[in-house]
Amino acid sequence: MGIPFVSSTRAIPDTERGPRHVAIIMDGNGRWARRRMMPRVAGHARGVESVRAVIRACIDQGVEFLTLFAFSSENWRRPADEVSFLMQLFLKSLQKELDRLHENGIRFRVIGDLERFDASLVQLIREAEARTAGNERLTLTIAANYGGRWDIMQAMERMLAAEPERRSGFSEEALSAHLTLAYAPEPDLFIRTGGEQRISNFLLWQLAYTELYFTETLWPDFDEQALGEAIRSYRKRERRFGRTSEQLKGGQEDAPGDA
Ligand code: IPE
Ligand code: IPE
Ligand code: MG
Repeated sequence: MGIPFVSSTRAIPDTERGPRHVAIIMDGNGRWARRRMMPRVAGHARGVESVRAVIRACIDQGVEFLTLFAFSSENWRRPADEVSFLMQLFLKSLQKELDRLHENGIRFRVIGDLERFDASLVQLIREAEARTAGNERLTLTIAANYGGRWDIMQAMERMLAAEPERRSGFSEEALSAHLTLAYAPEPDLFIRTGGEQRISNFLLWQLAYTELYFTETLWPDFDEQALGEAIRSYRKRERRFGRTSEQLKGGQEDAPGDA
């Protein structure tokens, strides 16, 4: 699909073309509901509408990869009934939307530790991934029971297992290849809704040089227009990856010896 995987900490993407990969922390569902005197979970249910709107908008804007944080490895700490509601909502939404995702050319993937999930949900996820594997319009990744530290740890274990004799000389590329999101370029644009300005153990490795965008808008209120605003902000930015602005404007080459 398009340009092959290149670490975004090396190559400089053209921001005016818009982001290839958008990663979103969908936050603020609970507050959206509480403000309306509704139970927190009503906000999660409503948040599914925003997911639909953002998928459509990404396709319209030519985004190739959309990664959504749906459930963190820390979200198990929430009240049991909220956790179980979220699991049911994930299952039901996937059952309901799968045909439409497939018809729209969307490749569906899930990253995260699925061991704690119900067998029925895991089976549905695997079937959905297999069925949509050949689609090329947009890769939609849902991060579920995902933690950035977990991702790095499991990648490290797999990297070590691949070469049991090796003790040193590992490269960043070797580790990256074992991260759960290895099939995607690193995110160009990170969005967090709901006003908090933190990463909350999302894609720690992959966000090294991602452009960050925080908005007060609560996730259930986030729509096509809100995504458009975030992308407009991205297009105005200059990504330097350690270089100077003059180097970028003058098209000067990197100094010899640059990694
Ligand atoms: C984000 O909304 C959804 C999940 C974490 C699953 P929250 O539920 O965190 O909403 P707030 O932050 O409490 O408003
Ligand atoms: C982050 O939101 C996780 C998801 C959106 C799935 P939280 O609302 O759980 O984040 P913290 O714990 O407040 O940082
Ligand atoms: Mg929250």
